[in-house]
Amino acid sequence: MSKHIAIGVDIGGSGIKAAPVDLKTGEFTEERYRIPTPDPSTPDAVARTVAKCIARFSPGRKTAIGVAFPGVVQRGVVKTAANVDDAWIGTNMRELIRDYAGHDVYVMNDADAAGYGEYKHGAAHGRDGVILMTTLGTGIGTAMIVDGQLVPNLEMGHIEIDGQDAEIAAAESARERLGLDWDGWIKNLQRYYSEIEKLLWPDLIIVGGGVSKSHHMFLPHLTLRAPIIPAELLNGAGIVGAAAWAASEHKKAEKARKDDEKKAARKAKHH
Ligand code: BGC
Repeated sequence: MSKHIAIGVDIGGSGIKAAPVDLKTGEFTEERYRIPTPDPSTPDAVARTVAKCIARFSPGRKTAIGVAFPGVVQRGVVKTAANVDDAWIGTNMRELIRDYAGHDVYVMNDADAAGYGEYKHGAAHGRDGVILMTTLGTGIGTAMIVDGQLVPNLEMGHIEIDGQDAEIAAAESARERLGLDWDGWIKNLQRYYSEIEKLLWPDLIIVGGGVSKSHHMFLPHLTLRAPIIPAELLNGAGIVGAAAWAASEHKKAEKARKDDEKKAARKAKHH
């Protein structure tokens, strides 16, 4: 696999999706592969499925692979699992997937992946300033990119509004669960984004998730300070972002390893 290709995997509530991504263009180099998310979505079942998705594209030893997960991920370890099996909490996802796939991976939060993807190749391509990505799906995912730097694990879907977790009323899933028409949902969205703007003051807000395909139904009805625009990569943002982020982490790790080698060689020469 070429040096300019990395693999992205996006773990969602209903499907696990993967594709190789051209890092220069952000385009898939092969057709996306999807396997339904195992039920229950326990760590072993999901890791096995992720490994199957990875194997499909026969990555080379040096190919960077990024995996996006719908919860907080710190240094490879899952810390929260609002909409997936609780057994994930405390799991070292990086190690688990490495065991099943036989290949090192980088793992990150799904909204972080989507935000990074939109920054690299989508709606916020190359834009400086404070960019806030929000994904409206089963839950609300949020990510912040400041002058190109990702601030990981922003969990603004869980701010408290009217005494409850914001995503309960404003996520896309709330429409069906609460039986809301567009107007009803827009009211909840307005309340949510106004609160967000009070706290964060972003320069640009991007809205992703499946419902962003119907952005004309709700975005023009929101009154906010910052421009609010639909994501461009739609379903692909998580895959593209995970691949791009993995490639950049991989590069950093390689550089650190080479610097260490050089240092060790210099030291050996002086002794
Ligand atoms: C989780 C986030 C995730 C978002 C979208 C939220 O419930 O807490 O970590 O990014 O859902 O999947």
